[in-house]
Amino acid sequence: MLSELRDSHGRVMRDLRVSVTDRCNFRCLYCLPETEEAANFYRTRWEGLGKLPGPAGPIAYEWKPKVELLTYEEIVRVSRIAVELGVTKLRVTGGEPLLRQGVEKLVGSLAGLAGVEDLAMTTNGFLFARKAEALRAAGLRRVSFSMDSLDRENFRRMTGRDGLAEVLEGIRIAQEMGFSPVKVNAVVIRGMNDHELETLAEFAMERGLSLRFIEFMPLDSSRAWQRDLVVPGREILERLKARFGLEAVDQSGQPSETARRWRFAGGRGEIGVIAPVSEPFCGHCNRLRLTADGKIRTCLFSIGEHDLRPLLRGGATDDELAWRLVEIVRGKEAGHRIGKPDFVQPARTMSCIGG
Ligand code: 5AD
Ligand code: SF4
Repeated sequence: MLSELRDSHGRVMRDLRVSVTDRCNFRCLYCLPETEEAANFYRTRWEGLGKLPGPAGPIAYEWKPKVELLTYEEIVRVSRIAVELGVTKLRVTGGEPLLRQGVEKLVGSLAGLAGVEDLAMTTNGFLFARKAEALRAAGLRRVSFSMDSLDRENFRRMTGRDGLAEVLEGIRIAQEMGFSPVKVNAVVIRGMNDHELETLAEFAMERGLSLRFIEFMPLDSSRAWQRDLVVPGREILERLKARFGLEAVDQSGQPSETARRWRFAGGRGEIGVIAPVSEPFCGHCNRLRLTADGKIRTCLFSIGEHDLRPLLRGGATDDELAWRLVEIVRGKEAGHRIGKPDFVQPARTMSCIGG
């Protein structure tokens, strides 16, 4: 083997997240807020602090033109090279990955790469029911849905779309078809959906789902994030422990896992808490991201990124690309700086980074 993707802090990359489009059919409050209601929610929160929202102003966003997006061939090529360099986990994300035409073709090619031990997709679920058969046939076995609320009105408030019924149907079909595990991500925002923690956990228990509660991170296009809106993982867990019998899942073999996990005692399903803000796990990070337009990001919060497109479209050999990846990874930052005085929010939102 040429080399491993080892950074200067001793971490070896095993997980590549591939964004296939920056577009989305949802407008989540924590990602691409658009509605007047979302603006009002943030405004009242900021006024409470005597400030105006978004000190740096919102991020003006335009979808990337199609020619700038990597083709499936280009994505597979980068993924194959990353896998040859030791990556074993691939995750297809967006934006909303199911908006990209023929994404099942890409899934099929990625599933066929020798050395891929785990292939997953993160979707908002709105189109999943329609695509489930094709994805399954292409070799997808694992899927994560984003669902922050079980209340139709609150779901609409959080995602900007009245789509709860479609997402629930997607989850039901994924389970019926034997996708396993079926994960559900819920981003928790204080004053928005934190009253639903117990309801969401109960849903996970009843359905045998893996529910992940995620702290709200400063990656929103409105730049309206503030610490008061984050419900710390510890608080989430205390509330759930007060209500459910929870048994810690042994994770000693998986130090890079971001979620701290608990099983429901005597029941099905589990919960996990992902606390990147209050308890950063950067020290064990083994993840890399490839954006839809061909840039490698070594951290969700990277300020700089590394463009592979000129190499891909300029006749670079596999070896040249591999060396470039090795070099990029060497420069991976030690960790994010949320909460530090020098923190700068990246100019890309989650929708164009890929979760
Ligand atoms: N903070 C935390 N999680 C986020 N996601 C998107 N934006 C944010 C944010 N600002 C999550 C979504 C989705 C995954 C891709 O990333 O819930 O499940
Ligand atoms: Fe779309 Fe996902 Fe961003 Fe929501 S979080 S707007 S579903 S990309």
